[in-house]
Amino acid sequence: SGKEIFEDRSCKTGFTYDDLICLPGQISFGVHEVVLESSFTKMIKLKTPIVSSPMDTVTEHKMAIGMALEGGIGVIHNNLTIQEQASEVSMVKKYKSGFITDPVCIQPTMLLSDIDKLAASCGFTGFPVTDDGKMNSRLLGLVTRRDTDFVKNRASITASQIMTDFKDLVTAREGVGSQAANEIIHKTKKGKLPIVSEDGRLVALIARTDLKKSAEFPLATKDAKGQLRVAASIGTRPCDRDRARALVDAGVDAIVVDSSQGDSHFQHDIIRWMKQEFPDLQVVGGNVVTKRQAKHLIDCGVDGLRVGMGIGSICTTQEVCACGRAQASAVYNVAKIAKQHGVPIIADGGIGSPGHIVKAFCLGASAVMCGSLLAGTEESPGEYFFAEGGQRLKRYRGMGSLEAMKKGSDDRYFGSSSVVKVAQGVSGSVQDKGSLRRYVPYLVQGLQHGLQDIGSKSVEDLREQLYSGRLRFELRSAAAQREGGVHGLHSFERKLFG
Ligand code: XMP
Repeated sequence: SGKEIFEDRSCKTGFTYDDLICLPGQISFGVHEVVLESSFTKMIKLKTPIVSSPMDTVTEHKMAIGMALEGGIGVIHNNLTIQEQASEVSMVKKYKSGFITDPVCIQPTMLLSDIDKLAASCGFTGFPVTDDGKMNSRLLGLVTRRDTDFVKNRASITASQIMTDFKDLVTAREGVGSQAANEIIHKTKKGKLPIVSEDGRLVALIARTDLKKSAEFPLATKDAKGQLRVAASIGTRPCDRDRARALVDAGVDAIVVDSSQGDSHFQHDIIRWMKQEFPDLQVVGGNVVTKRQAKHLIDCGVDGLRVGMGIGSICTTQEVCACGRAQASAVYNVAKIAKQHGVPIIADGGIGSPGHIVKAFCLGASAVMCGSLLAGTEESPGEYFFAEGGQRLKRYRGMGSLEAMKKGSDDRYFGSSSVVKVAQGVSGSVQDKGSLRRYVPYLVQGLQHGLQDIGSKSVEDLREQLYSGRLRFELRSAAAQREGGVHGLHSFERKLFG
């Protein structure tokens, strides 16, 4: 049992997910009957307890929207100015299925030859024309394929010469619901419907093709008003109080205090301040890996705890600082004390497969946080590129890598005032995972299969099994770990799902 492995005082070894294997129980239910609902914080439940990491190659508004639609939640990173981060949050809160809130806009002076290039690079053909080429500015017209087909002299004609002028456009007023917008599109047979504010600014765009695609999201994580939920991270400097205020004004549901070593007076102060200043806000503290660290943050009033130090796929913290803990030991120990105080814990980092997620839950986690696993999806920031062998990849970097710290994330690792910046992370790339629409259901189903094999119908039941000693683990020898992976083949191809 967990107790025998992790509470044996004579054993001073730290264990991680791969050191363990769960022993099977008895199956008396179907795989789709397994309920994964669990807590992200005291007040926020997730039907899919998976969280995307606050990293600049993982979570901005697209990822946060995608995760919330699938029943998880995204934490918008803070390697952005306060205004930029707050606007990422508000894009998630204002999201309505089928509404594009950040359409690519163009200036009236843009040449048709450049519009052609833009259309080829982004794969769509309709562009709103605003007076400065930006969103939230005055809408002047719309350029669609019908306006651009068969036009000659493309290098000398500008958008304003060919666009359908604002006065001839069908538009809808800000605040219109999906159903009403849908009806306008059906009636007018238009491909694009711009949504404008009372003073004529473009606030969103609806594309006919998206409306056709927009399916139901029965698991979506929503607040009482029906808006998607979103979290965001902050640091522990005095200026982070301004950041917290701006995020709360933008409607953030939870703030995650982002520190690699969370048990600091700076973090204690900012948690206490937030809990007092914003009583409705959920506050997640961390990162912690020991019971003592966890207790200090619990005493400050946290609603959730993030667990993991130096074990992420891009981390070098343990190498550089000689500090951290093997993740299975960290999750088990922190979960045990957090449970006594009713605080959910988020197992952060080191998740490389659905099996690792199952193990995190078996050790007492309420949710898992993933970086590398989600960085290669279509919804993460950044463009795909091709490796020499033709593999489609996306960049993924640690927030303590020199590259990310150059942009400002140094507060999490060594403090921005340090003379020399010492990297605590690396920068690399990960494989294309396709869209979250398919990838998250793959993770969810893996998790359901895992729980079914163990004989648990829910995450709650799993926890009950863990603390009553019915859930059994075994440590794996090095040979057993080899045996548990693919072995003995000349070559093989790994496809994740079909
Ligand atoms: P995975 O394994 O999911 O880990 O890619 C993501 C988590 O790693 C942490 N993180 C870092 N840790 N140096 C570190 O030691 C870094 O540069 C770094 N960047 C991110 C973070 O907790 C994240 O959620």
